[in-house]
Amino acid sequence: MSHDLFLAARDAMAKCYAPYSKFPVGAAIRTADGRVYSGGNIEIASYPEGWCAETTALSHYIMGGGGEISEIAVVAERMARITPCGGCRQRLAEFAKANAKLYLCDDSGVVETVTMGDMLPYGFEGEILK
Ligand code: THU
Repeated sequence: MSHDLFLAARDAMAKCYAPYSKFPVGAAIRTADGRVYSGGNIEIASYPEGWCAETTALSHYIMGGGGEISEIAVVAERMARITPCGGCRQRLAEFAKANAKLYLCDDSGVVETVTMGDMLPYGFEGEILK
């Protein structure tokens, strides 16, 4: 099941808009009830205003109804095994529990499987804000 999520991330990567860094990234999220949401990174001429592939995928996931996340795949065209940036770890952790699987991919498939808890130990938790 992980390979089809990789393919969704790779398809999204092909639709990214990264003319400045020329560093395409794709991400895909699967919910426990089987929905898949994906996204690529989107850059802006005012560089800090661009955003990551994981963030695009999260936007689609929220607009599609949210819910429990079971798996996430991330791929970058120019990296053998991308790991999400710090900000995206925190964004993903807002919606994905510590046991959600995270597939780190290269251009042909999953290279390593970790969990969100592995990826963001001691992350900031917003419970106290609720
Ligand atoms: N990027 C992502 O899309 N996800 C990450 O986790 C790391 C970085 C993007 C942002 C920017 O468009 C490009 O990669 C180079 O930093």
